[in-house]
Amino acid sequence: MKHPDPARRRLAACCSALLGLLAIHCTRPAPPAASEPAAAAGGWRDRALPARERAERLVRELTRAEKLTLATGYFGIQKPSNEFRFPEARPQSAGLVRGLPRVGFPPQWQTDAGSGVATQGEAPPALERTVLPSGLLTAATWNPALAERAGAMIGSEARSSGFNVMLAGGVNLMRDPGNGRTFEYGGEDPLLAGTMVGALVRGIQSNHIVSTLKHFAFNDQETGRRSVNVLIDEAAARVSDLLAFQIALEQSNAGSIMCSYNYVNGEYACQNDWLLNQVLKRDWGFSGYVMTDWGAQHDTVPNANHGLDQETGVQHAGRYQFLDKLAAAIDQKAVAPERLDDMARRVTESLIASGAVDDPVQPGPIDFAAHARVTQADAEEGIVLLKNERELLPFAADGSVKSVAVIGGHADVGVLTGGGSAQVYAPGGNAVPGLPPPQWPGPPVYAKSSPLEALRAELPRTKISWHDGSDPAAAANVAAQAEVAVVFVTQWTAEARDFPLGLPDDQDRLVEAVSHAQRRTVVVLETGGPVLLPWIDSVAGVVAAWYPGSQGGSAIARVLSGAVNPSGRLPVSFPRAAEQLPRPTIAGLGLPRGERFDVHFDEGAAVGYRWYEHKGHNPLFAFGEGLSYTSFAHEALSARQEAGEVHVHFRARNTGTRAGKDVALVFVAPAAGGWEAPRRLGAFSKVELAPGTTQEVDLKIDPRLLATWDTAQHGFHIAAGDYQITLARSARATDQTVSISLPERRLPAGAGVASAPVRH
Ligand code: BGC
Repeated sequence: MKHPDPARRRLAACCSALLGLLAIHCTRPAPPAASEPAAAAGGWRDRALPARERAERLVRELTRAEKLTLATGYFGIQKPSNEFRFPEARPQSAGLVRGLPRVGFPPQWQTDAGSGVATQGEAPPALERTVLPSGLLTAATWNPALAERAGAMIGSEARSSGFNVMLAGGVNLMRDPGNGRTFEYGGEDPLLAGTMVGALVRGIQSNHIVSTLKHFAFNDQETGRRSVNVLIDEAAARVSDLLAFQIALEQSNAGSIMCSYNYVNGEYACQNDWLLNQVLKRDWGFSGYVMTDWGAQHDTVPNANHGLDQETGVQHAGRYQFLDKLAAAIDQKAVAPERLDDMARRVTESLIASGAVDDPVQPGPIDFAAHARVTQADAEEGIVLLKNERELLPFAADGSVKSVAVIGGHADVGVLTGGGSAQVYAPGGNAVPGLPPPQWPGPPVYAKSSPLEALRAELPRTKISWHDGSDPAAAANVAAQAEVAVVFVTQWTAEARDFPLGLPDDQDRLVEAVSHAQRRTVVVLETGGPVLLPWIDSVAGVVAAWYPGSQGGSAIARVLSGAVNPSGRLPVSFPRAAEQLPRPTIAGLGLPRGERFDVHFDEGAAVGYRWYEHKGHNPLFAFGEGLSYTSFAHEALSARQEAGEVHVHFRARNTGTRAGKDVALVFVAPAAGGWEAPRRLGAFSKVELAPGTTQEVDLKIDPRLLATWDTAQHGFHIAAGDYQITLARSARATDQTVSISLPERRLPAGAGVASAPVRH
């Protein structure tokens, strides 16, 4: 997709070689501080003023050309073929919005994405940065504080790499597990995804930079992502994907929202009045700016009038919608000049409010050792132990397991990461170069963190043998000679395409051969999301490690050895077979590129476990499942109303012999039915408990999850009646249910949303 000219590549390679050792990356000198010259009292630089006021004053000073500059984003990677090229662009980055030197407003340097500072495909040399686990793994921690810390870490690397806008915050719901970007998102439930992704973005923005939330909205499959027309009714939309965005926005106060490529109900998302003007800006009171996904702008006038504030990815003359075209539309009175002022106000207010203007980004050193601890902590809490027959795991370090055969998945050298624009290269580069596809969104990249080596370090008294898995029969022999086998299987997934649910490269045959020879086989999954596990009954253990990031090998080994007690829980259901899904095959597969097609989200808001329960399907692994090396009990559930809100109280107890972290899920259900599915997740908690100890837990149910959307009244509606509140360990393991009677209640569309960004 994107590669720099040879001179730039040579310069960058040279800088990288010289400075890489110093952990300082090669970028241009810091921009002049926008706060200098000294902030004149009363001028837009006056830090005593609210961000809104400063932005309004600034916009009054700007020429039309300057306002158009703020509304136009270019490709960050500057191939010779780019017709728009600028010296201030960061070489490996996604995008650049030029600064306004006359008034001292900085450029916007934009970098992907949710797992760290990415390097765009074909833009060597790669920036080597700390890789967080995939967004799905972070969601699997069910620990918002940890997600926030993870976000703060990658946001600091963005800052230190000279970026002041991070294109993170993927919060599309998983409707089709084959979606190639499932790994970037927060799972299938709006409360969990919104809370976890919101926390990550809050952490990113704590670095005085802006983050997006994306891809707004219903970009829930990659097949035909630029030509798919998603059809969904408003009532379903408001309590599914839109609620995930709404919660994430409340949690993060994200400065920007990236609109998506697809159509929604017949109109492109980036010129969709309903989505951008009505839902986002009017109902939710969003005061930040809407940027397009790269090249998702289509028509100048509807783009401008229907709520777009900044186009991006402009690379070629004519292939843009703003600049002179927007100027002409204003001259022709098709777009009001105030709309351009509003675009400029929104962009500048977000940048000012984030702190990016007063505290300009400065390329600088990165503390990779400290950041490795952050990504490792995330990985260790999001790895999910799915099956553990006869407590085969953990392998104690005391040598009681004499020999382990480790097989497959390149576990001798590293762990897999997800591909596409979100691709982050870990320190040390790609551990398995040369895998197909060579072109973007490839090549697949492995972080140099070897589970095999880490396991050897964890289990010094155990003999650990290795086979690469390329020959199933030979691997089975190696497994038969050990007491236990650990098979690593991988599924590379990436942006711009979807993937079959079965493991690629005949890996099922490998697992079958090994488990046939060695009943005590544990399978470690490194996958983008749920996959089919046809051999599940013949293996003793399964560990979902997702894409575990740049310390992933060590995190996996520590879960296997028991140094870490697993506490990840599934943020997504695993189907037994594709037939259990609303769409057994992804819509639009096989259609000519660019041909528009419809996908009917007939499941509406019955996404994930809601769908399975609605249909009475029993998944292979249910939402919320995940084992621990200790055991927990949940007791004494009660529910009460206070000031119109529903609070629940219960006690969590560690009934086992090891310290561990317990996740409790609270489901809510109307006794009379009438929702899209029997019940929804209304709250959750994660607490750490020493053996034998208890903790009292108080949670509040988000009232929108007790409501349906009333289209006629334009708001959420809680029907009077009895509701069941269920305390559970997963969607399939209930501890206790109580009933509560609720009066009718109406909530406005924007209930709960924080207003404008308020950081100064
Ligand atoms: C992706 C976005 C990304 C952008 C910039 C697009 O292809 O869909 O998620 O932020 O590129 O790299």
